[in-house]
Amino acid sequence: METRELDHLKQLFHDYADTFIDPARDDGPYLLKKKHTIRVCQEILGLGQELGLGQEELVLAEAMALLHDIGRFEQFKTYNTFLDLASENHAHLGLRVITKMKMLQGLSTRDKALITGAICFHNAATLPPDRDDKTRFFMKLLRDADKLDIWQVVIDHYLAGSPGNDKFIELGLGDDGGYSREPFQAISQHEFVKSSHIKQLNDFKLMQISWVFDLNFAPTIARVKKRRYIEQLASTLPSCADLDKALDHVFNYMDTHINDTYNPC
Ligand SMILES: [Fe+2]
Repeated sequence: METRELDHLKQLFHDYADTFIDPARDDGPYLLKKKHTIRVCQEILGLGQELGLGQEELVLAEAMALLHDIGRFEQFKTYNTFLDLASENHAHLGLRVITKMKMLQGLSTRDKALITGAICFHNAATLPPDRDDKTRFFMKLLRDADKLDIWQVVIDHYLAGSPGNDKFIELGLGDDGGYSREPFQAISQHEFVKSSHIKQLNDFKLMQISWVFDLNFAPTIARVKKRRYIEQLASTLPSCADLDKALDHVFNYMDTHINDTYNPC
């Protein structure tokens, strides 16, 4: 994929996103996703460069980031929520938008497959085992870049409060100051917390902490550490012995994997 093809894709993305953005209406959710997309593009480039990708691969990676959440716009317009469980899978919806708008027209079959594959699985619980190394590499890269920005968005929200965004970021979860047992169990096993185990806001925050276990690359872990994402998330949670133990697991895991070399096999 060439830079001029990416530039064209950027124009298509902005034109499409801007059809949902109108300051005269309540366009906060759409703006949130447009800005998130632009930052994920930056994150994926930063990770890609550190991992030694060439120019052509970086262009491809940015294209994936650019379109990964394109389904969010139609999702919110149709269902008034970003909760996939209450609406539909936004990655699949995005792929339909891409097809309908013929956004990838003109790209090679291989590039199209890499882009749609990464988008399709960017929000999946697990990656398909039966794909080639390059496909899985880009899937992993997009998932890591996406998480890096989502962490920043939720931390900004929890720490500073962003009035009006509660419904979109906290997904309407209740908060009685407590925790459920399952998220702590998952973290103690170095597993990420399943959405079915989230019953209240603190569980949701524990799930966000547990994303560390789903990271794929050492440079991503290094960014999480440097930006103090886990410490900042933890600072918004009520302290208790279970939380301390969970954080020990998370920090130990990061320290163990921060120098890992990526092995595509
Ligand atoms: Fe997404």
